Amino acid sequence: MTTRVEIMNDFLAINVRPGKTIQDIVEASGSALPFGCRDGECGTCVVSVESGMEYMSPINEKEKAVLKTLNESNPKARLACQMKVVAHGGLVRLKY
Ligand code: FES
Repeated sequence: MTTRVEIMNDFLAINVRPGKTIQDIVEASGSALPFGCRDGECGTCVVSVESGMEYMSPINEKEKAVLKTLNESNPKARLACQMKVVAHGGLVRLKY
């Protein structure tokens, strides 16, 4: 069972099993979404989850801290290196 993840900027759609991070998906797909630290500290990988947030892991403390530092006001903002797909049968749409 999978969830479909669409990276809107790159016109990519990937079916993934729960447990994968968005970073895993991006690296396997050829998306141009940029990464820096890959550890939830730099904020380079900020994305907007346009739909399907319920299929993603809850926001963690690292994400909260970095998004606050960036003064990110978009309630859909997440860090691609931190969030994971946690449920199957969904559709997640991201843009960066
Ligand atoms: S790559 Fe640095 S916070 Fe995600």
